[in-house]
Amino acid sequence: MSVPRRSLLFVPGSHERAVAKCPTLACDVIIFDLEDGVADAVKDDARARVMAACAEAAFPHQEKLVRINSIDSAFGRDDLAAVLEADLDALMVPKVESPDDIEAVAALLAAHGKPLPIWANVETPRGIVQAAAIAEHPACHALVAGTNDLRAGLGLTHSNDRTPLLYALQALVCAARAYDCLVFDGTYITFGDPEGLRAECEHGKMLGFDGKTLVHPEQIAITNEIFSPSAEEIAQAEAVIAQYQDTLAQQQSVDILDGQMIEALHVRRAQATLALDTALKRRAS
Ligand code: COA
Ligand code: MG
Repeated sequence: MSVPRRSLLFVPGSHERAVAKCPTLACDVIIFDLEDGVADAVKDDARARVMAACAEAAFPHQEKLVRINSIDSAFGRDDLAAVLEADLDALMVPKVESPDDIEAVAALLAAHGKPLPIWANVETPRGIVQAAAIAEHPACHALVAGTNDLRAGLGLTHSNDRTPLLYALQALVCAARAYDCLVFDGTYITFGDPEGLRAECEHGKMLGFDGKTLVHPEQIAITNEIFSPSAEEIAQAEAVIAQYQDTLAQQQSVDILDGQMIEALHVRRAQATLALDTALKRRAS
């Protein structure tokens, strides 16, 4: 079954009102952050707040993740110990640079009988060049681009022009697809700029990302819109599937629809589009 994962909102565990607001938000995934979104002085408070929210709040449909601090940091082991007690859908590990980074966390989870899927935040040049090996680790279920750290690590100036990031973004999509992982785009950090956000969502979708990470609730609606199948995409998918049944009935494997060649691979894409649409409609009903 297709699970909508269009919009993934980072929520710093230290932002009390933001944590409280989560169950009311229309994002598909909530990533409670204990890492860079939280100052060292309040790490313990943030962890406790997130654990209380996970235990007590009713989340109508959102998947819940926690982004822990690196297990080599002063806070990572306490984060992991807390996560073992929580009801989560997956665990996000920051600054993953090798399959060993996944293995270190996966081994601890397995030792405690809690083999949560790991979503790897890949946000350094080393992580990018190791993306395929990271995605290949059996515990890794998703790659999440950390585009702001990556810009800094690559020595890029801040800009909304993603041309200098293209190699890294494509490396992540390629690695994820090669090893059956999900793949999510980085955050857009210019506030109050819906057109810029829309353009970046469209760019991410064109590159093959499944959805996008966000930093503010104002970004959810546009992201959901762009990463949902449009009416045209749904109509096109239905047409491809219908026509291809005739194609096969005529013992052919290639056909032409509206001037475009279609093959079995287009049917698989069309089925994925309709599965996502069905999942969204089921949730809305
Ligand atoms: N998740 C959930 N709710 C959020 C939110 C978030 N990331 N950011 C803001 N909100 C809520 C606020 O609590 C407020 O709701 P309320 O009035 O019911 O309390 C509402 O949205 C409007 O917020 P606003 O006043 O515009 O922003 P702010 O000053 O509260 O917060 C930031 C601004 C940048 C501090 C905050 O958006 C943030 O921390 N974003 C995430 C940053 C992050 O996680 N970085 C690390 C990963 S890249
Ligand atoms: Mg980061």
